[in-house]
Amino acid sequence: MHIKALQRFCLFLTLVPLASHLEAKVTKSAFGSTPDGTKVEIYTLEGDGLKVRVMTYGARVVSIEVPDRNGKVADVVLGYDSLEGYLHDPKTYFGAIVGRYGNRIGHATFILDGKRYQLPANDAANTLHGGLVGFDKLVWKGQEIPNGVELTLVSPDGDQGFPGTLTSHVRYTLEPHALRIEYTATTDKDTVLNLTNHSYFNLAGEGQGDILKHVVMIPADRYTPVDSGLIPTGELAPLAGTPLDFRKATAIGARINDDNEQLRLGKGYDHNYVLNGKMGAMHEAARVEEPTTGRVLTVETTQPGVQFYSGNFLDGTAHGKNGHVYGLRTGFCLETQHFPDSPNHPKFPTTELKPGETYHQVTVFKFSTAK
Ligand code: GLA
Repeated sequence: MHIKALQRFCLFLTLVPLASHLEAKVTKSAFGSTPDGTKVEIYTLEGDGLKVRVMTYGARVVSIEVPDRNGKVADVVLGYDSLEGYLHDPKTYFGAIVGRYGNRIGHATFILDGKRYQLPANDAANTLHGGLVGFDKLVWKGQEIPNGVELTLVSPDGDQGFPGTLTSHVRYTLEPHALRIEYTATTDKDTVLNLTNHSYFNLAGEGQGDILKHVVMIPADRYTPVDSGLIPTGELAPLAGTPLDFRKATAIGARINDDNEQLRLGKGYDHNYVLNGKMGAMHEAARVEEPTTGRVLTVETTQPGVQFYSGNFLDGTAHGKNGHVYGLRTGFCLETQHFPDSPNHPKFPTTELKPGETYHQVTVFKFSTAK
């Protein structure tokens, strides 16, 4: 090799690893205030291949801008242009961190250490996403950290009926072409928790029609079937032979109207998949490809489950960004999580947290493109 070419090649080799550690630019601005006058801030994270905005109200992801296979950038999450929209949100939980217990607790009650706790019922007889005023409706404290933002919330003992003062930290950071969400939490009394992010994706771009052509793969052999209130029956049932099996990549719309009781109960997909990967270590939760733009989303997590929700309750009442009306199934969620109603199912992986322990979970949303 020519000596100059060799020098250039060596320079290239030293720059490549640097490129994968690109620093993200983080900026903060005001995003209005809640009715009680609390100021809300929005953080913009700009990195290699994506731009993400996160606000302190509900620790919500407000936008994720990523290029398609031709380099055309679009915002791929549903939401609103201003704080007002989020304050009047018709129970979609767009982009929010849901807690203290994301997903459902059956009959709004559970027993912990022999004591029964009663929670507010906000989803028929059940508690959904932490109760009437869940973490999605509270203003978190934001702080800039390298490549992102850390959001902190202190939920007092007895908040929405849950025991123990729970201090939660959610760190959103950018990695090349990826958004990493790291959750930690501690308590001063035994409690239960299940934190997740409730972003609705449409990889064609928010407001660009329904998500039925998106092709989904979920590496799970089993799921937790539900009753009519979407509460798990307790069974870990095989997916093989059902229209809920996504081990082989399949379009969301291909079987969503099949004659199947679980699809009827969920009004589509709204089910917890028991991931094959090892809980506590990073493993794949899903891969989704949008064929017209080529955008691909890969989800990795330390969590044991993922709620695959096909936006069945979106009904056009949410008037979103850029004047877009979000109709039926115009976004899907992949909520990495512990299984719904775990406090009432001793055989499910435990969601209990004790003083002295630290809850720790990581989920990464990675973006790429396919031909
Ligand atoms: C979760 C639930 C759904 C629905 C949405 C919010 O994903 O599983 O049933 O309640 O939140 O609309």
